[in-house]
Amino acid sequence: MSSSEQKSGESVTIQTEQGLYVDPQALTDHLSALAYRDGALYMDEVSMDEVVKQYGTPCYVYSKQAILEVYQAYTDSFASLQHQICYAVKANSNLAVLGVLAQAGAGFDIVSRGELMRVLAAGGEAARVVFSGVGKTYLDIEYALTQGIGCFNVESISELALINEVAQQLDKPAPISLRVNPNVDAKTHPYISTGLKDNKFGIAHEDALAVYQQAAELSHIDIVGIDCHIGSQLTEVEPFVAALDKVIELVHSLRAHGIDLRHIDLGGGLGVRYIDETPVSIDEFAAALLPKLSELDLTVFFEPGRSIVANAGVLLTKVDVLKPTEHKNFAIVDAAMNDLIRPALYQADMAVIPSVLPSNGIDSDGTQPWDIVGAICETGDFLAKNRLLSLATGDTLAVTGAGAYGFTMSSNYNSRPRASEVMVAGGHHQLIRQRETIEALYADEVLWQDK
Ligand code: LLP
Repeated sequence: MSSSEQKSGESVTIQTEQGLYVDPQALTDHLSALAYRDGALYMDEVSMDEVVKQYGTPCYVYSKQAILEVYQAYTDSFASLQHQICYAVKANSNLAVLGVLAQAGAGFDIVSRGELMRVLAAGGEAARVVFSGVGKTYLDIEYALTQGIGCFNVESISELALINEVAQQLDKPAPISLRVNPNVDAKTHPYISTGLKDNKFGIAHEDALAVYQQAAELSHIDIVGIDCHIGSQLTEVEPFVAALDKVIELVHSLRAHGIDLRHIDLGGGLGVRYIDETPVSIDEFAAALLPKLSELDLTVFFEPGRSIVANAGVLLTKVDVLKPTEHKNFAIVDAAMNDLIRPALYQADMAVIPSVLPSNGIDSDGTQPWDIVGAICETGDFLAKNRLLSLATGDTLAVTGAGAYGFTMSSNYNSRPRASEVMVAGGHHQLIRQRETIEALYADEVLWQDK
């Protein structure tokens, strides 16, 4: 270890001149689903090596219990208010994940017809679904209305007009809220910040009253709420409070203009600890918002995605090739940016830990800095950089925090089949999505025929 290393009270990392050491034991102490037992990594009661033996790699594994724990934490923290937790499907849309949440009573936040079909297929109720997104099409709106959607979160005047038109055609009033853009800095990565006036999302705070008044004039629009979502992976509570203050201001001025709402939707965005982040807890989040919310006499909706599933999941991957070079050591693993794009797209730091603990941690023989990379022909194809690990070909590694925006953002780039997904609970594991076959990747393609 070099003199530049630091280890703070909360930290699970040691930064040396060679690279970053993420202490696997300390990291798993922060993750309810994961633990080392006799040096082997377990999720709940299931050994990750056993999962690999049975289902191969790359493989996403999710803990049912960890998902439900966070969902329960949300409902407990807001128990004093009428509330509805609408899980943001985009974070992880596997039917098994949706089914577990539907059974627990969750509502859902969706952004496409496809997501609504998944929710319904998993046993969710359309009436408990809110439909977000800036580009809803005629078909999206028609399908959602026919199914009895709970609320459209409207993001523009033209969308409002389109919803009214479809509702008229179907002769069925459409429940709506306006998504207000409060122009609040979420202090997160620019790609996942949504509440600034430069972002494409929502209706500017200063225009909202006028748009509500327009909506009130439309024949087939039923105004039911107000909505706002300022970004994702927020670690502080202040931006949420600032956004809430602006939305409350609007609720009051709407009331003064005779427009009464039934719910206020504060979106999602609560961050998680991937490595050393210290996001506010759900309890702290609730404590900051409850006093303001309880004065409103409205049902409160939240749309959490990441915080419910991120730390309930890992991506298991195998070390295929070790390639030490003069300047850098590359560990080429069988997962790649097509499986998990967060590091490449957002420079996200995610922890990579071994399925079997080295005996001496950072001091173990053979610990070296490695770039953990995929086999895709792109320099941006990496899962982690400069991590101090002791590696051998054939080892299994787990990328933690991979339950959110992992599989759902995966692709077939380089004609790679998407990974399998497994859920564990009560000592059992179950395949919840088969690994794609390569044949399936081109099964819908047709050779050109010369006439
Ligand atoms: N509601 C709306 C309208 C949203 O746009 C989002 C996420 C959520 C709720 C859920 O936010 P969460 O609780 O998960 O932060 N792919 C990125 C994150 C994109 C988030 C997009 N919107 C990532 O991997 O970091």
